[in-house]
Amino acid sequence: MKILGIETSCDETAAAIVTANRQILANEIVSQLEEHRPYGGVVPEIAARAHLDYIDLMVKRALETAKLDLSDLDGIAVTGGPGLIGGVIVGVMTAKAIAFAQDLPFVAVNHLEGHALTVRLAENVTFPYLLLLVSGGHCQILAVEDVGRYQLYGQTVDDAVGEAFDKCARMLGLPAPGGPSVEKAARKGDATRFQFPRPMRGKPHCDFSFSGLKTAVRRTIDSLPEGVLVFQDVADICAAFQQACADILSERSAVAMIRFRANHPDMHDQPMSFVIGGGVAANQTIRKALQAKASSMGFTLKAPPPRLCTDNAAMVAWAGIEYFQRQITSDFTFKPRPRWPLDPKAQQLKK
Ligand code: KG4
Ligand code: ZN
Repeated sequence: MKILGIETSCDETAAAIVTANRQILANEIVSQLEEHRPYGGVVPEIAARAHLDYIDLMVKRALETAKLDLSDLDGIAVTGGPGLIGGVIVGVMTAKAIAFAQDLPFVAVNHLEGHALTVRLAENVTFPYLLLLVSGGHCQILAVEDVGRYQLYGQTVDDAVGEAFDKCARMLGLPAPGGPSVEKAARKGDATRFQFPRPMRGKPHCDFSFSGLKTAVRRTIDSLPEGVLVFQDVADICAAFQQACADILSERSAVAMIRFRANHPDMHDQPMSFVIGGGVAANQTIRKALQAKASSMGFTLKAPPPRLCTDNAAMVAWAGIEYFQRQITSDFTFKPRPRWPLDPKAQQLKK
């Protein structure tokens, strides 16, 4: 089974071709960083236009790289939401058009489910597993019972952790995307020079909070001598910020591990998987901290390779394969969804 995946939900236009036996035949991506740079953030209207400009080229390149023709495909998977609606519409219309012209099945998948299932593209991880999803727009922890079956354990009450990385980078004058810039600067920094808070520490639930951390970074910058920050200040702030994020994520995950174990009494003799996904899961310090926490709690950390953690279309193609294998497809009436929670029951309860 060869599936074309299309991703256009934020500021990356991507197309990939993946097979049911886990081969990534092509994984093409173009980032719109330059288009959005003058505005200091992603501008939805600019993103939608850029997706329109790039999407055909990405699909063409994916086919060329895989040395395939549209007629060799068995189906199309596309991000149907959540995300910036203009971009999602571009992706969904492209997928529908190719599916219609080639008489192929198509399936619209949840972008978050793409992140959630990527680990199964990388290796043979079985359900159920505990998932920490950490990206620019989301920070949540869920039990993944099966494809399409999620139970939300906790989520951020304010900023997503990736958003906190991006804001920290902006305050320090580091280039976008913030996560990789902060990680790079932190390598030369001393994580003990500044003390940043660990919000929610010790709380019995699994929710997160990052806005206090952001304020602490602001205050620290303001407390330093006026003028341009010297490189060592930036590196030390990045190292302390990154360590605080790693501590928060591992402490909150430990609470979720206890809950997951209690909710799955039938699994007590089997190894339990703790999976991470989303852009922030590419961070090496955070991966190491989560690895240590998982093993101390009797879980095995399963992390996709960093290039599959950040947004890409291979994860979308793979989520599509999981649905096609279960004979689930979408029809041409599918409407792009700006909001699409993985666990709709939990979201309703929270309102
Ligand atoms: O999953 P993703 O590519 O897009 C969303 O769905 O949001 O995640 C992007 C987020 C950004 O906030 C980016 O700064 C962060 O992930 N990120 C990182 C790293 N690479 C990307 N954060 C920390 N360390 C990294 N190496
Ligand atoms: Zn994402």
